[in-house]
Amino acid sequence: MSKTRKVLIPVILILGLIQFIPHEIETVVVDETAKFTTDNIEVQSILDKACMDCHSSQTTYPWYGNITPVNYWLEGHVKEGREHLNFSEWNSYPLEDQKHVAKEIVEVVGKKEMPMLFYWLIHWDAKLTDAERTTLTEYFKTI
Ligand code: HEC
Repeated sequence: MSKTRKVLIPVILILGLIQFIPHEIETVVVDETAKFTTDNIEVQSILDKACMDCHSSQTTYPWYGNITPVNYWLEGHVKEGREHLNFSEWNSYPLEDQKHVAKEIVEVVGKKEMPMLFYWLIHWDAKLTDAERTTLTEYFKTI
């Protein structure tokens, strides 16, 4: 057997086996009144396509999100993202916190740190144009 095969076969076997680890992706009940909403349709649509998968309780997981260990990896990011900012709980944040987070949004969007690189590499429509970034930062500067 070649060296590559010696390595590859156990790896494939292990990947196959870990698929049987029982795992359910957590669903969260959303309080509709706590959700972030805005009349600014442009801002809302940018947030929906580029931020909500990680910063809201309503994540749409891709099909490969069911594959172990991708599921753990994706969920880790979503969990961390929600801890920093959860648009589904926006209205339950004290005003001070909203202002603080709005400032952070202006910063990370302005510096192109968000959405995360790996995300828009997969979701092409989530790659924001400079104009979209400006729309978002101008909006959150007013909060
Ligand atoms: C793929 C998941 C993902 C997407 C999409 C995403 N984020 Fe994040 N975001 C994270 C994670 C994980 C963190 C925490 C770790 C970090 O700061 O890198 C975070 C952190 C943040 C923070 C806190 C930064 C700080 O300094 O504490 C803000 C604000 C933020 N994101 C805003 C956004 C906005 C606005 C968008 C959409 C334009 C967005 N994110 C898209 C995953 C994501």
